[in-house]
Amino acid sequence: MNLASIDPSVLRDVERVPVALGDRSYDIVIGSGLLADDACWHGLPAARHALIVTNDTVGPIYAGGLAQRLAGAYPEIEVISLPDGESFKDWSTLNQIFDALLGSGCDRKTVLFALGGGVIGDMTGFAAACYMRGVPFVQVPTTLLAQVDSSVGGKTAINHPLGKNMIGAFYQPARVLCDLDTLATLPDRELSAGLAEVIKYGPIADAELMTWLEANMAGLRRREPALLRHVVRRSCEIKARVVGADEREGGLRAILNFGHTFGHAIEAGLGFGVWLHGEAVAAGMVMAAELSERLGLTPPGLRQRLSSLIESAGLPVCGPALGAAEYLRHMRVDKKAEDGDIRFVLIEGLGQAVLRSAPDGLVAECIDAHCA
Ligand code: NAD
Ligand code: GLY
Repeated sequence: MNLASIDPSVLRDVERVPVALGDRSYDIVIGSGLLADDACWHGLPAARHALIVTNDTVGPIYAGGLAQRLAGAYPEIEVISLPDGESFKDWSTLNQIFDALLGSGCDRKTVLFALGGGVIGDMTGFAAACYMRGVPFVQVPTTLLAQVDSSVGGKTAINHPLGKNMIGAFYQPARVLCDLDTLATLPDRELSAGLAEVIKYGPIADAELMTWLEANMAGLRRREPALLRHVVRRSCEIKARVVGADEREGGLRAILNFGHTFGHAIEAGLGFGVWLHGEAVAAGMVMAAELSERLGLTPPGLRQRLSSLIESAGLPVCGPALGAAEYLRHMRVDKKAEDGDIRFVLIEGLGQAVLRSAPDGLVAECIDAHCA
C-alpha cells in the first residue's frame, strides 16, 4: 500500500508522476493553482497535528494558503518559520523543528509539510526521518530547483562545516505537490539556479531534452507556463525513473550528481550560501564535461555545447579561483569518494553517464581551465 494514495479521478488539469518504490511509492503532482485546489490534498496521512515548516521569505507568501487547505484534515496546524538560507541548513536550525514538535506535544502520527525550496525540503525531511523515529512528511516545493530535483527521491540532509549534505537520511515523502504558480514570486537568480538542475538531465539521460532546452531557454526564463510545466514534468519523470531503479544510490542514482562533485567543492570552498547550489553545479558541469572530453569518453564539442546552454540560462560557466588543490581537498569529502579516490559522473555520449575516477593532475587541469 502506498504511504498516501491520491484518487486520479478527483484531479483536474494536473500532471501526476508516480515514484515506484513498493510500499514507499508516492505521487508527484504538478500543476497551477494546487495550493488553492482541495482535491490535490485528499488522501494524505491522517493525524491530529500538522506542522508546516517554512522560512521567513516563503512563509509570509504561502503558509496561510497552505494552512487553509489543510484545515479540514488536521485539527491542529502549526507553522514554524526558519531563517532563510543555505547557511542555516545546520544542526541548530534543525533543532528548532524538534523544539516546535515537542513543544506542541506532537505525536508519532504528526505530518510535516515542507513549504519552500531545497533547504527547507532537505531539513524537514531529515526532521521527519528522526522525530519519534519517523513521521510522515509532504513536500510542497516552491523553487524550480526543488520542483525538478530536491523534493523527489527522499534524500534529506543538513550540512557540516566540513562537507555539504554530510548528515542525513534516505526518507521518502508521502507526496510531492508542485504548484507551478509559486514560481511567479521566485527571484530570477533562483530561477536560473533551478535551470542548472534541469540542464543536468540532458547530458546524463535525455539528449532530446537538451535540444528542447536549447530551443526554449528564452521562454523558460520568461516563465512561460507551458514550458515550465514541461520541464518540471520531464525532470520529475527522469528523476522518478532513476530513483525507482536505485533508491539508495548503489550505482545508477549517482548520475544525478553530474557536476556536483566540482560544485560541492565550490560551495564548501567559498562557504555555504555564497554561490547558489545551482550556480555551483552549473560551473561544475562544465568542468565535468571538460574532464569527459579529456579522458576521451565523449567526442570534443559537448563541453562547448553545454557551456553555451548554461550561459543562456544566466548561469556561470567558470568556477571561483580557489586553486585546484583547494577544490581537490573538498572533493575528497564527497559522498561518492571511496578510499579517498574521487569518483566523477562523466558523459560518455549525450544522454549517457558513467562513474569514473581520474588522475588528480588531469582533474586540476580541467579546474584551472574553467576558473575565473
Ligand atoms: P533554497 O531552498 O535556499 O531557496 C532559494 C531561495 O528562494 C531562498 O531564499 C528561498 O527563501 C526563496 N524562495 C523559495 N521559494 C520561493 C518562492 N516561491 N518565491 C520567492 N522566494 C522563494 O534553495 P533551492 O535552490 O531551492 O535548494 C537548494 C538546496 O537543495 C541545497 O541545500 C541543495 O543541497 C539541496 N538539494 C537537495 C537535493 C536532494 O535530492 N535532496 C537535490 C538538489 C539540491
Ligand atoms: N540530487 C541527487 C539525488 O537526488 O540523488
